[in-house]
Amino acid sequence: MIVRKWIVGAAVLAVIVPVSSGAAPLSTLEPAGVDAQRIANFFWWMAAAAAVVWCAALGFLAYCLRRPHASGTAPSPRRVIVTGGVVLPSVLLAVLIGGIVPHTNDFVDTAAAGDALRVRVAGEQWWWRVQYPGANGAEVELANHLRLPVGRTTHVELSSDNVIHAFWVPSIAGKIDMIPGRTTYLTLEPTRTGTFRGVCAEYCGTSHARMTFDVVVVEPDDFDRWIAAESAPARPPASTGARAGAVAFAESGCGSCHTVRGTAAVGVIGPDLTHVGGRHGQGVGLPHASDDLEAWLRHPDDLKPGALMPPFAALGAPRLHAIAAYLRELR
Ligand code: CUA
Repeated sequence: MIVRKWIVGAAVLAVIVPVSSGAAPLSTLEPAGVDAQRIANFFWWMAAAAAVVWCAALGFLAYCLRRPHASGTAPSPRRVIVTGGVVLPSVLLAVLIGGIVPHTNDFVDTAAAGDALRVRVAGEQWWWRVQYPGANGAEVELANHLRLPVGRTTHVELSSDNVIHAFWVPSIAGKIDMIPGRTTYLTLEPTRTGTFRGVCAEYCGTSHARMTFDVVVVEPDDFDRWIAAESAPARPPASTGARAGAVAFAESGCGSCHTVRGTAAVGVIGPDLTHVGGRHGQGVGLPHASDDLEAWLRHPDDLKPGALMPPFAALGAPRLHAIAAYLRELR
């Protein structure tokens, strides 16, 4: 019976471990950043210490079970409690704390180093407003999308003017709270290219779980090209459908909440849409498979409950279709 339980347990572990540590770029155990590597190292040290304690406890148990009964040489219960319950845990905890606490300052960062890239991130309901200094003094604003040059330090300034959020890209660094009325900082130092996922790690309301973002780490040259392209104003729509969409966008008042640089739309309540068509997840922050801009425009609340954007189903299918075509062309 016991053997069968072990086999079932091993089978469950065999399924869980690859799923939780596998391909999803959301694992602290597959570090792709300097801080994430430090955290992973701490984890493995602590796991090794825990394994030692576990083996020692099992060994002690085995000794107790096999030892002849009623032998006069048994250690006194007080000695067992003092040694196993006080001295051993104190030494182990002292070693772990002594090894880790002095390094916690490595993660604190309030002043950006000279050539660090500076990015501001604000927690909104429920999306991420990301602001970069662009080329020629332009400010580049994105939603739910960060792009970082590999091997270079990015200094992130975090804020929130609504509730507490927490910024976390497990593969690249630790997490930190975004507290209304305060500014917090985090350093991201990606060590390899790729696309990673970020999440909000503090329950902040109805769509907290949908408050995700992409972090795309690229070569420095690719980053420079990208930021130059993002700094440019929106290109005028080329297709007939998108041109009709631009008109519908303007007439429907979308510009009072959204900015499209280079046009009359200068709203700042919602995300900047200047290059929304080139973004992952269309800026909605939902899994790519459910990206349907028209469905989003019709009833944002269906896809992201509690979203501040009102429903625009009343505009009718043809106008929504045209607006979606326009937004997709904003690349
Ligand atoms: Cu924002 Cu949870």
